[in-house]
Amino acid sequence: MTLYVKAGESSYPVYIEVGITDRLGELFDLNRKVLIVTDKNVSPEAVSSVQGACADPRLLILEPGEKNKSFSGLERLCRFMLENGFTRTDAALALGGGVIGDLTGLAAALYMRGIDFYNVPTTLLSQVDSSIGGKTAIDLGKTKNAVGAFKRPKGVAIDPKLLLTLPKKQLSNGLAEAIKMAATCDERQFCLMEREDFDAILPQIIEGSLRIKKDIVEKDEKESGLRRVLNFGHTIGHGIEAVTGMEHGECVALGMTFMCAKEIRPRLERLLKKAGLPTRVSLDADAVLRAIASDKKAEGNEINYVFVENIGSFSFRKCSFEEFSRRFGAMIAGEG
Ligand SMILES: NC(=O)c1ccc[n+]([C@@H]2O[C@H](COP(=O)([O-])OP(=O)(O)OC[C@H]3O[C@@H](n4cnc5c(N)ncnc54)[C@H](O)[C@@H]3O)[C@@H](O)[C@H]2O)c1
Repeated sequence: MTLYVKAGESSYPVYIEVGITDRLGELFDLNRKVLIVTDKNVSPEAVSSVQGACADPRLLILEPGEKNKSFSGLERLCRFMLENGFTRTDAALALGGGVIGDLTGLAAALYMRGIDFYNVPTTLLSQVDSSIGGKTAIDLGKTKNAVGAFKRPKGVAIDPKLLLTLPKKQLSNGLAEAIKMAATCDERQFCLMEREDFDAILPQIIEGSLRIKKDIVEKDEKESGLRRVLNFGHTIGHGIEAVTGMEHGECVALGMTFMCAKEIRPRLERLLKKAGLPTRVSLDADAVLRAIASDKKAEGNEINYVFVENIGSFSFRKCSFEEFSRRFGAMIAGEG
C-alpha cells in the first residue's frame, strides 16, 4: 500500500509492504552514488538488499545510539560524502531507526546545500512516527534535537519484516507512540489495538499510525499548532526521562497516564501494559517538575500540554508552572 504525504507543492510516497526492502530499486532513483547509513544492529540481509538496489552504493555502518546525533556524527557523514566524491545529484539513504534517520536526513539537507534523501526505517518507532514529517536533527549537549532542519524525504519504504530482529523493548517504544496517536486522534485504531494481538496486526498499526501522522503534518508541517498533539505524554515524559534515564517510550507511557481524564485512565493503562509499558512507578515528583521547568525554559513560565478527555480526541491546554505543579505534582508522586 502507498500513502502520499502532501507537502507544499509536492508530495512524497510512503510505501508500506512486507518485503519491500528487496525491491527498492523499482521505487527509488538509486541509479547513482548513494550513501547508505545504517547501524550495527540492522540485519546484514537488509543492508545487502539495499546495497544491491543501488548502482554505486557507499556504506557507512555506525555504532548504535543517540550519540550519533551530534556535530561529530554529522561531520563524519559529510566528510565521508566529500571524500567519496558525492555531488549535488547524488543521494543519501537512511537504513535504521530514528537516530539514523534524523542524522542522515540532516546531512542530506546540508551537504552541498541539499541532496536527495530516502528513508528505510527499521524500528517500530521510526516506522510509525519519525520517518515522515520532514523533521531532522542532532542534539547539542543535553538538549535533544537542538540543531536541525526540515528535510522532506524523496521517498520512504516501510518493511514490517525488518522488525523481526527488533528487541522487545524497542517494539514497546514504538507501540507507545502508536498508542499516543490512537488515543488522541483515532478511537477505532485504539479499539483495534485493544482487541487484537499486537504481533498479528503490526502492519495495520503502522498504516493506521502513519495515516494519523500524515494528516497532522499535512496540516501543520512546521509545528505551529496542530502538530503539537504528537507531544501527548511528552511534557511529563521528558521530565521523567531526564530524572530516571528510563527508555523514552516508557516515559511517554507514564506521561500519558497523567494527561487524561480519570474515567479513561484505566483503559489507557490496560493498553500500555499490554504493550509491555509501565503505568505506575515511584517517582520523585519535585525532581520531575524541576526537569520539566528547565525543559520548558524557552516558553517562559507557561506550560503547554495535550490532554485527552475521551479516547480519540484531545485538547491543547496551558497553565502557569505553579498551577501545573499543583495539578499534577501529587499524581506524579503516586498520591493522586
Ligand atoms: N524526526 C522525527 O520526527 C522524530 C520523531 C520521533 C523520534 N525521533 C528521534 O528518533 C530517535 C529514536 O528512534 P529509535 O527509537 O528508532 O532509536 P534508534 O535509532 O536508536 O533505534 C533503537 C535501537 O534499535 C536498534 N535497531 C534499529 N533497527 C533494528 C532492527 N531492525 N533490528 C534490531 N535492532 C535494531 C538500534 O541499533 C538501536 O539500538 C530519537 O533520536 C528521537 O529524537 C525523531
